[in-house]
Amino acid sequence: MTRQSIPAAPPCTLFLFGANGDLVKRLLMPALYNLSRDGLLDRNLRIVGVDHNPATAEEFAGRLHAFMAERDKGGEGTAKCLDEKLWARLAKRLDYQTGDFLDPATYQALAKRIDTTRHGNAIFYLATSPRFFPEVAQRLGQAGLLDESAGGFRRVVVEKPFGTDLASAEALNACLLKVMGERQIYRIDHYLGKETVQNILVSRFSNGLFESFWNNHYIDHVQITAAETVGVETRGAFYDSTGALRDMVPNHLFQLLAMVAMEPPAAFAADAVRSEKAKVVGAIRPWSTKMALKNSVRGQYSDGRQGRKRLPGYRHEANVAADSQTETYVALKVMIDNWRWAGVPFYLRTGKRMSVRDTEIAICFKPAPYAQFRESELERPKPNYLKIQIQPNEGMWFDLQAKRPGPELVMENVELGFAYKDFFKMTPATGYETLIYDCLTGDQTLFQRADNIENGWRAVQPFLDAWAQGGEVHEYPAGEDGPEAGNELLTRDKREWHRLG
Ligand code: BG6
Repeated sequence: MTRQSIPAAPPCTLFLFGANGDLVKRLLMPALYNLSRDGLLDRNLRIVGVDHNPATAEEFAGRLHAFMAERDKGGEGTAKCLDEKLWARLAKRLDYQTGDFLDPATYQALAKRIDTTRHGNAIFYLATSPRFFPEVAQRLGQAGLLDESAGGFRRVVVEKPFGTDLASAEALNACLLKVMGERQIYRIDHYLGKETVQNILVSRFSNGLFESFWNNHYIDHVQITAAETVGVETRGAFYDSTGALRDMVPNHLFQLLAMVAMEPPAAFAADAVRSEKAKVVGAIRPWSTKMALKNSVRGQYSDGRQGRKRLPGYRHEANVAADSQTETYVALKVMIDNWRWAGVPFYLRTGKRMSVRDTEIAICFKPAPYAQFRESELERPKPNYLKIQIQPNEGMWFDLQAKRPGPELVMENVELGFAYKDFFKMTPATGYETLIYDCLTGDQTLFQRADNIENGWRAVQPFLDAWAQGGEVHEYPAGEDGPEAGNELLTRDKREWHRLG
């Protein structure tokens, strides 16, 4: 994790496989730009784009520059206000290697680009289609590029998706671990790059107050929501074979669940933190097929609207099958079988084309004993929530009941809160800055270990298996908050979703 006043990361040759893809231009390059702006890159860091289309270093740099400058104008960008001087400094570090990922000659060419006289350090960032992960790893191994015996570090960054089910994730881990050690593998989940996600651990474990009520004596249930307003955009083909469950749950939503539910680690060190996370995700109860069907709801958006704008249904999106049964919304109930959480349901939901963008964790506390208010409006006080808002409007809020001033005993919901923007100056960031810096410095705390990944898939596998045998995919109009069945998952337990937004 990054700290205040940190030094520049060590020198390295950073190879970006899939250099002409979206991830490099939208996120990795802006993140490297921000790291360079903050003086966190060593002067001997070189960035080498690797891809099959022939290009020179100047053309590669030119394309990235054009994208970042254009994006700036649109105001959507993360490296806003591109500073030409800063860019020129970063552009000098850029290089390009044309090469087929399957051709051993590519790897011989890469070997020559590692600066062995100064440091010998290299990172191979697999920003490619997942089908290349095993292929590239194997060839890196065969070419001797993962050998650290000469002193320099050799690391491989693997992007998501890491497998499509438990069996494929295990196979991919086995393949990577054949050619390198676990401490050389950096499996990325970009949610861990978010300040608000890192803050969950800091808030929980540095404020003694929280620990006293962070258990099944006081907490009734936990809700984790990642609602998006966007549809599948240009990723129809990928999404149609993936769906909301695989896309968001074993990775992003389980990261949030792990941060909320894990035991305090013995130290803030990579293995201690990752072991606690693996334990808690490993303690999610594996449902039988019948229970998996009962405790899950799938939805798919149909035609709808956002304000005045008409939105096409999922089946009308580009590269999506006209009779697709892929879910764009999922709601689940899971139980964690350990002492702290026994009996506390965790409700998870995520969906595309919902009414608002809101990623939040709502922790719902058990009600106060209320016999003394029997004859008043207070007989049924609303539950207290602690809302941890991951994005947007980052912060934390406690819902409290208060007496509205006046002669009557009337209660009102009030909020006690902290918004990041009120306390901290947030510089534009993509979330990848911390992750790239940590990879350069060798801190694996925010990366997924093999067992973290496999435990995540183990917990969702019963849903995948159950759905393969049947169950309904409910429609919901684009622009609304999922199907009614998603609400019923809670109302049948006499609970309701925390309001979004
Ligand atoms: C990605 C998913 O991993 O996360 C996308 O593939 C999703 O479908 C995205 O939109 C959400 O990320 P964020 O940071 O916008 O919450």
